[in-house]
Amino acid sequence: MKSIQIALDGPAAAGKSTIAKIVAEKLGYIYIDTGAMYRAITLKALNAGIDLASSERTGQLLRNTQIDLQPSEEGQLVFLDGKNVTEDIRSQAVTSAVSLIASHESVRERMVELQQQLASGRGVVMDGRDIGTHVLPNAELKVYMSATVEERARRRYEENTERGFDTPLADLQKEIAARDKMDSEREVSPLRQADDALYLDTTNLTIEQAAADILKLAEERLK
Ligand code: CDP
Ligand code: CDP
Repeated sequence: MKSIQIALDGPAAAGKSTIAKIVAEKLGYIYIDTGAMYRAITLKALNAGIDLASSERTGQLLRNTQIDLQPSEEGQLVFLDGKNVTEDIRSQAVTSAVSLIASHESVRERMVELQQQLASGRGVVMDGRDIGTHVLPNAELKVYMSATVEERARRRYEENTERGFDTPLADLQKEIAARDKMDSEREVSPLRQADDALYLDTTNLTIEQAAADILKLAEERLK
């Protein structure tokens, strides 16, 4: 049976990973959360105490690192050098540092290589910032998802509240806006909509509506 590659890009809390998981499950494809990979190397760099601003040091660290993504009942599990770090990579410290680490060319080159290997020859839904532009330039379906920064901060706030964290909404909005700026202004493969990507504004869409929109587009390409 024919299978396709689906690239979902966009800024923080646009709904990429939530929708990607649903679409992958419905189509029986693998789901690859590339943000989790950048978060994992960031966690390692923070624990190692290396200079996060050094492209050379972080690139070298990544060459000696094993990052594995494994599907499970509760969602995707992330392993860093064999240790389950699924929760640890969502910490505030990692979130604050990840865009700096992700701006280094040495880090991005290796990540793109790993991501292309993971996706090779199979049906895949991959979400991130540069999937349609760099990682899977030939993906049959590319969608750039976004929503207003207010709505995205509100979503993260609700998510945090459920997990027992109480970061003020205004702080979350500032953090998201700062990360959007860094991700879209960096020199190496910045966050941007690929020329052949469709734009989906999820501000007023439920998760079910956004997933249905993307599934419909996927099914059209599978015909
Ligand atoms: O889930 P959230 O939107 O908070 O972020 P994420 O998808 O886990 O990505 C964390 C960070 O990794 C982003 O802010 C980017 O700096 C970086 N990233 C990237 O540069 N390229 C990707 N393909 C995926 C993530
Ligand atoms: O992966 P990304 O950072 O783009 O976003 P996400 O982690 O999938 O979504 C952030 C939060 O927004 C999650 O708690 C989703 O349940 C929620 N969400 C929503 O309320 N409405 C949507 N249309 C999409 C996501």
